[in-house]
Amino acid sequence: MKKKPIILGIESSCDETAVAIIKESDGNIPEILSNVVSSQVDVHKEFGGVVPELAARSHVEKIDLIAQKAIKQSGVKLEDVDAIAATAGPGLIVCLSVGLSFGKTIAASLNKPFIAVNHLEGHALSPKLNSIINYPYLLLLISGGHSQFLCVEGLGKYKRLGTTIDDAVGEAFDKTAKLLGIEFPGGPQIEVLAEKGDSTKFDLPKPIINKGGCNLSFAGLKTAILRITKNIKNEKDKYDLAASFQKTIEEILYKKSKVAFEEFKNINGDMGKKFVVAGGVAANKKIRKILTKLCNEENFDAIFPPISLCGDNAAMIALAGLEKFKKNQFDDLGFPAKPRWQLDESAAFLKGAGVKI
Ligand code: KG4
Ligand code: ZN
Repeated sequence: MKKKPIILGIESSCDETAVAIIKESDGNIPEILSNVVSSQVDVHKEFGGVVPELAARSHVEKIDLIAQKAIKQSGVKLEDVDAIAATAGPGLIVCLSVGLSFGKTIAASLNKPFIAVNHLEGHALSPKLNSIINYPYLLLLISGGHSQFLCVEGLGKYKRLGTTIDDAVGEAFDKTAKLLGIEFPGGPQIEVLAEKGDSTKFDLPKPIINKGGCNLSFAGLKTAILRITKNIKNEKDKYDLAASFQKTIEEILYKKSKVAFEEFKNINGDMGKKFVVAGGVAANKKIRKILTKLCNEENFDAIFPPISLCGDNAAMIALAGLEKFKKNQFDDLGFPAKPRWQLDESAAFLKGAGVKI
């Protein structure tokens, strides 16, 4: 019987140092043999955000140990690994360089193929770690640095339908949390606080909700929150603001996803009516709930990665590596770290001024 490929994946694009080993399986959903993630929350907490140089230093200090742990947990010998996949971008260049060099070194020393992975492709494929999904599908990628609607046509084949023109959704969660005095990273805490509040208390803006196709905007929302936080008097107000913010995000994503569904159908007809939601913010249960409701109304299948695989991890990098391995898509050891690397390379860079909406 032919040996099932085993891939070692490495992730270091921001503030998680992660190594995972996965194995192809008959059922088509690969087996995660190990998935070790070490978060740097404690390193950055006092600064209220990720400090690139500290993040890079922490990756350097930990990556070897994390890799050893992942190899030990997987029960496979390093020599049995068929290829090494590492995130090459997008992300912080000083951080990317650590995992990338580490991966290239292992590949060179074992004389095994090296695969450079786009971090966003890792998120895009992550639901394949628990579901069988055929192309095409509509993807909403919502993380700390990105918010995009993409038509996923195949491995490496993405057509961007919409993107944020300013902040990413996760960034909006984190900035709101900071304004409410919640420790970094505050996004997940907002979800918890929102449960205790009245979501109808504050009427927050929904920028470009009725224009700009399925492009998104959150900067105006942040400005409104800043204004309100100045008048916050007690804990109850804080919970109400968290609840109103959470609700507003849900409504924006519901409305814009509905527009994206139409655009997706214009391209694919009734084929592939699947809606995959991935990235750190996809861990938010109420966002999952409202987008599932939309899918039920519009006859799309709603697909999410397991909550534990929404945030940054190396299993998704190993998975993208495995898909490329099966297509003999290897990279040479000169592959550079790419701080900016869009999934749809033909799409215009839309952040900031000059955006057509
Ligand atoms: O995908 P990810 O781990 O890193 C990036 O690639 O950016 O996403 C991190 C983002 C952070 O902004 C974090 O606050 C947000 O995901 N996040 C959440 C939740 N869990 C993580 N936002 C809202 N609700 C959550 N439960
Ligand atoms: Zn990410």
